[in-house]
Amino acid sequence: MDQRPGAAIESVPDTEEFLGDVIAGLSATPRTLPCKYFYDQEGSRLFDAICDLDEYYLTRTEIAILEAESGDLARHVGESSVLIEYGSGSSRKTRLLLDHLESPAAYVPIDISREHLLDAVVRLRGRYPSLRILPVVADYTAQFALPRDLPDARRVAFFPGSTIGNFAPEEARAFLARIARTVRAGGGLLIGVDLKKDAETLEAAYDDASGVTAAFNRNVLVRMVHELDAELDPERFAHTATWNEAEGRVEMHLVSEGRQVVRVGGVDFRFEPGDRIWTESSYKYTLDGFARLAAGAGFRVEKVWTDPRQRFSLQYLVASPPLR
Ligand code: TRP
Repeated sequence: MDQRPGAAIESVPDTEEFLGDVIAGLSATPRTLPCKYFYDQEGSRLFDAICDLDEYYLTRTEIAILEAESGDLARHVGESSVLIEYGSGSSRKTRLLLDHLESPAAYVPIDISREHLLDAVVRLRGRYPSLRILPVVADYTAQFALPRDLPDARRVAFFPGSTIGNFAPEEARAFLARIARTVRAGGGLLIGVDLKKDAETLEAAYDDASGVTAAFNRNVLVRMVHELDAELDPERFAHTATWNEAEGRVEMHLVSEGRQVVRVGGVDFRFEPGDRIWTESSYKYTLDGFARLAAGAGFRVEKVWTDPRQRFSLQYLVASPPLR
């Protein structure tokens, strides 16, 4: 069998778009860099390392729920469904789900990192030889097309990892509404949602002692050097993570360690010591708060599973018929 299967290639940002986004982000107030650029191959590798950190309770807790509740989860997903995974990454969690699904009609992993996606597909094809796997390389935050040869079956989206927390609430609502349209009325969404908790636990999860998260955050600067010929020293930016109680989010910044000029695409950006680039937010929800968000997007919460300490939740949502 072909070791490097093809994939439908949808809109993946190119160098020109990366440069445009960087210049727009660094010109804005506050300065930002879009988080989708974290995930090149190195970024995806660093993110996998984050998931193994002691401080990063999210992945461990979500996997424990997936393991403990696999039978119940599979019942909600239902027989012969098409499983569509948004941001499949290393597909570790997928295996826990696929192992328990009753004759899935197809599995559609979507990921922005082509290499990472195709490597995962090779491994999954080995493990599930009779499963139809239809990978899509795409930025799933943008419009993308599903594979044309998708079987006509009930669709269930899988969006673990609490990545929904990386959207601002209004973006999250719009994104969930798009998923609702993609799975159609009666279709489902199995989603990981991180829950509000004490500041200390949250801040440690996003600023670990060994510096892996710092390297992940700086990787966007490293990419600017490699891919955009930016003149800058990534090591002169420090990583910080702060829980913002009023906004209900952890904020990740890169803080300039001195006075410096970042030159990219012929434009100079001046930084004073302490000047910040806001790279990412991770919103945390209460169960009620998330149910309201989901309702605004056309989803009804059918079932919630949590760990005994209520740190993290997996939720099964059902798409309602569109309002007219
Ligand atoms: N979805 C992850 C989260 O919010 C993304 C993430 C984890 C992240 N650690 C990070 C993003 C550090 C930026 C910086 O938990």
